[in-house]
Amino acid sequence: MYSETVHLPIVKTVVWPDEAATRSFASGLAMQPAISNAFIELRGDLGAGKTTLVRHLLRALGVTGRIKSPTYAVVEPYELPGLNVWHFDFYRFSDPREWEEAGFRDIFASPGLKLAEWPEKVAGHLPLADLVVQLATVDDHTRQVTLTAQTPTGVTLMYFFDSMLAFSDKGLKAIELDDTPMNQVTAPNGNSA
Ligand SMILES: Nc1ncnc2c1ncn2[C@@H]1O[C@H](COP(=O)(O)OP(=O)(O)O)[C@@H](O)[C@H]1O
Ligand SMILES: [Mg+2]
Repeated sequence: MYSETVHLPIVKTVVWPDEAATRSFASGLAMQPAISNAFIELRGDLGAGKTTLVRHLLRALGVTGRIKSPTYAVVEPYELPGLNVWHFDFYRFSDPREWEEAGFRDIFASPGLKLAEWPEKVAGHLPLADLVVQLATVDDHTRQVTLTAQTPTGVTLMYFFDSMLAFSDKGLKAIELDDTPMNQVTAPNGNSA
């Protein structure tokens, strides 16, 4: 019987030529059932587009009110029908005791969608992210994006992205730098997934 082995992590690099491409990705992600219990890290310099991506994702999930950047509050929670979302920004996080006191451990152990900007500031505390989205500024509108699936949930989320690239005309208006099909992605250990 045919079976497929996937070696983690799986890495894909794409280019989003404008914010509309970022929004399309967010909309597609919001439609995935796996998003309802996932942890996604957003990495990249200031201005790379981490909060912008989260805003588009929250809108697509149905958040209607103001979406504040949690730079000062560290976390903004959202309650949607059947879905809890927490948007973290650890940029200003400095006191490790705050991790326990603010109940962040409990949040990461709860079902729901956890989104974290600046995860590197709390690296020792976080569980393994399902998906890492690394954004890099190319020019005013263009972002190079590296997606890393680190768990089966992350792979599920990434498969959606692959199918969108395959089935839409220009696929999210994204240009694939790495056009290796998902089932032939080579893992860092040199094995073929
Ligand atoms: N393709 C793109 N994706 C995301 N943001 C973009 C894009 N092109 C331009 N931008 C702009 O870049 C800025 C990103 O800011 P922000 O999301 O706050 O960054 P970060 O949270 O990474 O510091 C916003 O003003 C956004 O409108
Ligand atoms: Mg931000």
